[in-house]
Amino acid sequence: MTVLVTGGAGYIGSHVVRLLAERGDEVVIVDDMSNGIASRVSGHSVEEIDLAASDAEDSLVSVMRRHDVEAVIHFAAKKQVGESVERPVWYYRQNVNGLANLLAAIDRQGVDRLVFSSSAAVYGIPDVNLVEEDIDCRPINPYGQTKLIGEWMIDNARIATNLKAVKLRYFNVAGAGWPDLADTAVMNLIPIVLDRVKRGEQPVIFGSDYDTPDGTCIRDYIHVKDLAEAHIAALDYLATGEASQSTFNVGTGEGASVAEVIDAMASGLNQEIVPIRGERRAGDPPKLVADVSRIAAELSWKAEFRLEDIVESAITADRRG
Ligand SMILES: NC(=O)c1ccc[n+]([C@@H]2O[C@H](COP(=O)([O-])OP(=O)(O)OC[C@H]3O[C@@H](n4cnc5c(N)ncnc54)[C@H](O)[C@@H]3O)[C@@H](O)[C@H]2O)c1
Repeated sequence: MTVLVTGGAGYIGSHVVRLLAERGDEVVIVDDMSNGIASRVSGHSVEEIDLAASDAEDSLVSVMRRHDVEAVIHFAAKKQVGESVERPVWYYRQNVNGLANLLAAIDRQGVDRLVFSSSAAVYGIPDVNLVEEDIDCRPINPYGQTKLIGEWMIDNARIATNLKAVKLRYFNVAGAGWPDLADTAVMNLIPIVLDRVKRGEQPVIFGSDYDTPDGTCIRDYIHVKDLAEAHIAALDYLATGEASQSTFNVGTGEGASVAEVIDAMASGLNQEIVPIRGERRAGDPPKLVADVSRIAAELSWKAEFRLEDIVESAITADRRG
């Protein structure tokens, strides 16, 4: 099968490119390299296209024709919550216009399978123990809104055309499936802690008075390699032609608190970490853990790696980089 991977030179996309290549699929990468790293996908050619550009639809159709593309996995997007609050219009242009151009090209070329990177950010601040896919989505920032709008656009395309699609809502992605594919952005908890420790500084815990067992926020950490495997399962699910569900949480179904993650990192690094206890941040739900029963039942997928594996792989990748 020939799969077009947008954002394939990014952190998550490059893991999926590697898995697809390992199983013998042809891969075509489209990436504007705004946050891509060429060495993650060496050996693959990258079509440098900005999906949000006015001529992107035509460029994409041309790539799809040339390579006889049969399925698309769409990672390319801007992903920083804070930046999305500062530059909302640009986020809509990038993430929503980019997807509109891609869907138009998919329709023109008659490609009928799509897997979309969505996010637990679509849920906002749900007050539930485990988050099910069907709860009301109330994203609280432009980034999460662009992801929810993207899901709606895809659902409408599914109704209007013969497109089959899966939208994967990722929880907290971390770790590295291969040491050269690390998350180089210092924006999520594990990379931030690694960065602080390397600088000889202590990490800050934002809020220790939440209604959780140790007072710190609980999240569902998913190993990026498990997440990448979920994309392969989604592609296979679409190929069966019997897809009855299209929206799936991707997590472990288990929560870990910020304090527990920092403890795991101290063990992995064999070094004491004494975090600074800071104030709460606005918009942080106390607990966000996925209900993963739907993806287990429909895609026969479940996470294999544990928090310790995630931390160890991140540390190994960081030492290499
Ligand atoms: N990393 C996470 O924790 C996380 C969580 C939930 C959802 N997601 C989503 O997963 C996807 C991939 O995330 P990632 O962590 O690999 O991010 P990343 O920034 O590493 O990868 C995104 C890739 O898309 C490319 N890109 C961005 N805008 C583009 C455009 N307009 N045209 C063409 N290419 C463009 C970038 O150059 C980059 O290579 C994103 O859609 C993101 O919103 C990520």
